[in-house]
Amino acid sequence: MPPATTLPGTTDRRIAALLALLAENATIVISGTRIGREIGVSRFTVWRWVERLRELGVRVKGQPRTGYFLEEVPDILTPDLLRKRMKGSLFGKRLFHFFKTDSTNRVGMELGYAGEPEGAVVLAEEQTAGRGRAGRSWHSERGAGIYTTLLLRPQISPVLAPLLTMLAGLSARAAIQAQTGASPELKWPNDLLLNGAKLGGILTEMHAEPNLVRFVVIGLGINVNQQKFPAEIAGLATSLRKETGKAHSRLELLVRLLTQFESDYNLFLREGPSYVVERFQRESDFAQGKRVRVESGRDTYLGTTDGLSPEGLLRVEKDDGQVVTVIAGDVTEVP
Ligand code: BTN
Repeated sequence: MPPATTLPGTTDRRIAALLALLAENATIVISGTRIGREIGVSRFTVWRWVERLRELGVRVKGQPRTGYFLEEVPDILTPDLLRKRMKGSLFGKRLFHFFKTDSTNRVGMELGYAGEPEGAVVLAEEQTAGRGRAGRSWHSERGAGIYTTLLLRPQISPVLAPLLTMLAGLSARAAIQAQTGASPELKWPNDLLLNGAKLGGILTEMHAEPNLVRFVVIGLGINVNQQKFPAEIAGLATSLRKETGKAHSRLELLVRLLTQFESDYNLFLREGPSYVVERFQRESDFAQGKRVRVESGRDTYLGTTDGLSPEGLLRVEKDDGQVVTVIAGDVTEVP
C-alpha cells in the first residue's frame, strides 16, 4: 500500500512535521533555518507552509527573519500525534488527515473501493459537505468537532451492518462519559443527545454483495467545542463545550473513542449481534417505554418504544396495540 499521505488533499507529512515541531517547542522562537534543516526544506518553503498553517487557523507568530513560535498549541488531530497515541491499535496504522475535505465518508468509501485494508481512519478538521442521515448535511465547523470515518471489512451479513452504527454510538457514549462525565442519551439508531439536543451522529455506509459485506465505513460526527451553531440548527444542536461550560481536547476524546470502538468491535465479532442489541437496550433509555412519532415512508404513526428485535431493529407498539418493527425512518420522542 502507498503511504497514507499520497491521497490527494491529505495533509502533507512535512506540514504535519512542521506543526509537531512548533507544538513540541511551543512559546520558544525557532528560526526558519533550523526548522528547514530539521524538516529538510528551504527557509522559503518553511515560510510558505507557515502561511498555509495560518490560513488554516493555526496561530503561528513571527516572521522569517526572527523565527516562529506558536501562540497557542492547537488542538489539531495530526496523524503524528495520533499515531503515537494509537500504537499497536487497529486504528493506529493508516491515518488520512485533511485540513479540509468534502466528507470523510466520501473519502472512506473511495479508500474502500481502492482496496485499503480494514482499520483506516479518515480525519478532517473541516468538512465542506459533511453527510448526515437521510440526505441531510452535517455542520462541520473547522477545528470544533470530531469528523472521522473508520473503514471496516467485517465478515458479516449485510443485514447485520446497522448494528455497527449502534455499536459506534455505544463506544462514543462511553468515550464521552469517561472524558467529560456527561452521559449522552442514545437515540436509536444513530443519535447522541445531551439534554435533548443533538451532540453527535453516526452515518454508516457500505458496499456489499447480497450475502457478504465487502466493506463498511462508519462516519462519526461529535460536536465538541462549538460555541454556537448556524440559526437553522441552533435550537436542535449542542456541543460538549456548551453543555459542560468548558473546552475539551478533541485529540484525547478521539483516542478514547478509537480505543473503545476497537474493543467493542472485537466483542461484537466474537459474541455476535446479541452483544450489541442487549447492551444498547441496557444503555438507551429511548429503546423502551418512550412515546414516539414514527415517520417511515408515507406512513406516520404514534406509539411507544418496545425494545429491539434480535437484529437490532426498533419495536414500537402502536396506539391500537399492534407491535411493528421500524426498519428505517425518523423516530422522534413526543411529550
Ligand atoms: C446523522 O445524521 O446524525 C449522521 C451524521 C454523521 C456525520 C459524520 S461527520 C464524519 C462523517 N463524514 C460525513 O460526511 N458524515 C459523517
